[in-house]
Amino acid sequence: MNLLQFDSGHAWMEGVCAFWNDRLRSDPRLRTCLPTGLTPIPVYDDMVRRVSAGHASFAEAAVFALDEFGGLAAEDPGSTRNTLARLLIERVDLPAAAFHALDVQAADVNRTCERYDAAIGAGFDLVLLGIGTNGHLGMNEPGTPPDSRTRRVELHESTIQSSARYFPDRAPHRLPRWGVTVGLRAILASKEVWVLATGSGKASIVERAFHGDVTTEVPASLLQRHRNCSLFVDAAAGTRLR
Ligand code: PGA
Repeated sequence: MNLLQFDSGHAWMEGVCAFWNDRLRSDPRLRTCLPTGLTPIPVYDDMVRRVSAGHASFAEAAVFALDEFGGLAAEDPGSTRNTLARLLIERVDLPAAAFHALDVQAADVNRTCERYDAAIGAGFDLVLLGIGTNGHLGMNEPGTPPDSRTRRVELHESTIQSSARYFPDRAPHRLPRWGVTVGLRAILASKEVWVLATGSGKASIVERAFHGDVTTEVPASLLQRHRNCSLFVDAAAGTRLR
């Protein structure tokens, strides 16, 4: 794993966006897998600014959502599809047909997952990931096998509780308890993977993922064996790194 450590949240955001824009310029057809969560919000905002200013373009690119919460109405603002659309997709020049999201409303969710894996093919050019405090990647929770495919998953209790941040109007017992996620197989097979982490609350899991044993109990640690994975941290998230 390459380590990119930035002194401030602003420098972190600029660093991530500068690298992302560089990848888009060298390959305008870049196929990228994107997460939601709170961490990437400033990055998406800044990419919107860059596109508006004519310094970046998604006109030929493709974007795949990393995961989706189950059991939500199609119009729920907290779904991954709607969140990504609101934060990035509808504000940049990506053609609507180039945005792929997981349709958990479909009668046959397994079929949805098979189709998604077929569309992903051998992997993405670039995957952006947040990291859960339990080391999960997307909704690949601790214990997930490295060859796992896109599939329905049950969320860990800690993931359910931390998702309350994305669903401010929901009572705890109405938070999503399952989801659908791109599997570790496609993430690990992708050409380039970036893990994004900010804030002191991520310092401990970042240390485990980066310096700890490679184990399925910490899915992010599997990225230590990826040939082109970078960890982007701000000062607070990187305090325990050597
Ligand atoms: P966060 O979520 O960006 O909201 O911290 C990350 C994750 O749980 O994967």
